[in-house]
Amino acid sequence: MKKPIVIANWKMKLSAKQSSFLAKDFKKSLKNFKDQDIVVCPSDISLTDVGSILKKSNIKLGAQNMFWEEFGAYTGESSSAVLKEVGCDYVILGHSERRQYLGETNDMVNKKIDRALDSNLVPIICIGETKDERHDGLTDNVLYHQLKECLNSVHLIVGEKIIVAYEPVWAIGSGDVVDADEAERVFELINQVLIDIYPLTIVRNNVRMIYGGGIDSSNISSFSDIKLLDGFLVGGASLDTNKFKDIITAL
Ligand code: 13P
Repeated sequence: MKKPIVIANWKMKLSAKQSSFLAKDFKKSLKNFKDQDIVVCPSDISLTDVGSILKKSNIKLGAQNMFWEEFGAYTGESSSAVLKEVGCDYVILGHSERRQYLGETNDMVNKKIDRALDSNLVPIICIGETKDERHDGLTDNVLYHQLKECLNSVHLIVGEKIIVAYEPVWAIGSGDVVDADEAERVFELINQVLIDIYPLTIVRNNVRMIYGGGIDSSNISSFSDIKLLDGFLVGGASLDTNKFKDIITAL
């Protein structure tokens, strides 16, 4: 494993006050973790407050989305410049909930990745198959196309980092996780696609691969033998400091 990373995706599950409260609790309870990268992604409205709480801590800030243009008449969107201004280092892109409810496409994610890299933000690129796609034997095909299209013409130069998050849609929020052998097979596939796109040294040094979907402290150990895995993207279990801490401790 490269330096493991654990990312909390708080989705739209907390009020602004609750986000600040949880950020303060994280800051206090997680301050001794130095061997893991920890990232918190609150909703946009809470980024400023959570960013100022986590400033000078070992916890980094991420957003759950951003727009691909730098500035202009794009009602309801947030720019990469504003995300940087409030202290973000990371941004989640192409989460399946945005693909499902807001029509986010690989092409849109592709433009956002370019903008994120130009703006010195690390994109956390989410890919994953639905239950029907898995049932129909389309998993590999779906992941291949999502990855290829999201990374189309995205050039990674030395120092530019990306994170690929494999999040099977059917596992998200379900309490189910993908079987460890199957996860290993999928990460090998993702690694192969990445090696097709980028030189091996770039894949080794600039890309981290993480898993998300149903992760909690009781099932995290089943992933411990997956060599290509660099960390986790955590939804539900990141809303409770102790549960999140247990996950980081288990790495
Ligand atoms: P859960 O951990 O709640 O399954 O959510 C995963 C997720 O969607 C993180 O982005």
